[in-house]
Amino acid sequence: MARETPTGETRDPPSYVRTPVAGFLASLPVDRALARHDLAGSIVHAEMLGRTGILTPAEVTTLVGGLRAIGREIAGGSFPWRPELEDVHTNLESRLTEMVGPVGGKLHTARSRNDQVALDERLYLRAAIAEVASLLIRLERVLIERAAAEAATPMPGYTHLQRAQVVTLGHYLLAHFWRFDRDIDRLLATAERASVSPLGAGALAGSTLPIDPLYVATRLGFARPFENSLDAVSDRDPLAEVLFDLALALVHASGLGEEIVLFASKEFAFVRRTAALGSGSSLMPQKRNPDAAELVRAKCGRAIGDLVALATVLKGVPLSYDRDLQEDKPPLFDSVATAKEVVGALIALVGSLEFDRERLRAAAEDPEMLATDLVEHLVGRGVPFREAHEAVGAIARRAAGPIAEAELRSALPAAGPDLAKILDPGAAADRRATPGGPSAKALAAQLALARARCEHRTESLSSLARSVERVEELVNEERK
Ligand code: ARG
Repeated sequence: MARETPTGETRDPPSYVRTPVAGFLASLPVDRALARHDLAGSIVHAEMLGRTGILTPAEVTTLVGGLRAIGREIAGGSFPWRPELEDVHTNLESRLTEMVGPVGGKLHTARSRNDQVALDERLYLRAAIAEVASLLIRLERVLIERAAAEAATPMPGYTHLQRAQVVTLGHYLLAHFWRFDRDIDRLLATAERASVSPLGAGALAGSTLPIDPLYVATRLGFARPFENSLDAVSDRDPLAEVLFDLALALVHASGLGEEIVLFASKEFAFVRRTAALGSGSSLMPQKRNPDAAELVRAKCGRAIGDLVALATVLKGVPLSYDRDLQEDKPPLFDSVATAKEVVGALIALVGSLEFDRERLRAAAEDPEMLATDLVEHLVGRGVPFREAHEAVGAIARRAAGPIAEAELRSALPAAGPDLAKILDPGAAADRRATPGGPSAKALAAQLALARARCEHRTESLSSLARSVERVEELVNEERK
């Protein structure tokens, strides 16, 4: 257990982590990912201890210098991680004392690992949200670009996976855009609500020393410090929220994945089976599978599992910090990594889809999908909707194939002279000129809205990204 320091002394782990169950308690393999956030929090904590007169300026300089040296060791891969020290927090603090001597033992003044880990997680969350949101914005741009190019490509719109009414591929792709846009909105709102610094809550009840949580919060780029110390060390709401946000984003990704799988099947053949979709079969030489879309569809299960795992951990935990809360990190890290992978894959996948416009157009010409158009034509000529629905329904049920115009006219005496226009499937999407509909004009308006929204998201993200940069600015030499 003991180990040699560079100066030759050996150090035992501090007594608070010495226990026969140390291996079971250890979280280092997981929480190492928080190292840089932990350093930034410690640097600001040390500064605060100096400003409040708890430490001398010279002590602060030594501590901050040591913490930055540790930052360089971690970045260079030479940091001597010690699994017997339980977690990232004790590893960094022990290393600091090895490097700077007994003054290192002053860093943890008026702080507990309870408020420390809660702070680290908030810093991590902010960065993770910024990363996922920026990938989602890239996906939005791809969807917008592809939708603009397919604004005039008719395709069948489906309900119950049955051909329903004609839309355009551009309209269809933008439907996916709006889903992901709400995901970005949720993530950014979660980041805003999570912008609370827990440092200064101590183990659970603050401190007898004159600490300054507001300084810490401001310096780390948070909106404010906590209101209640018990709540601060135990609040994992932002983690649960982000797991929901990510799970729902991956539900949306999964739906899109499923459609790519369907559309690439020979039954639909709306999407060409190119190598960009995935690999082939080791046995069947003709195969080209939509593997990537299938994995996009499947990985959502992990995210939903992570959300349920965390909610189950949190359920029934009494105030304030309980060791159960350590189990919050595996699901969080897993979902963030999964979301980044899935959205990254979708950016490439959607960007490379080869649509078979002829197949789409041919499918859109299915006369069945003009039934509603006929009903609405009759409604326009004064026939009550329900009556028109019955009349057209009766024809549709009888017809085995396309119906000649003359036959339609005799079955629907109220039809107007412009009936032929209604029977032109090429015009069906364009006739749906209501706001948010697939007509060329409505789609142009929708595209403009989507582009503006994407710009707005980009701006919101850039202010979040600036606060994320605080961590590296603090850990690397401060730019004054
Ligand atoms: N590894 C712990 C966690 O992630 C850090 C806090 C430990 N606090 C304690 N009182 N044992 O939650």
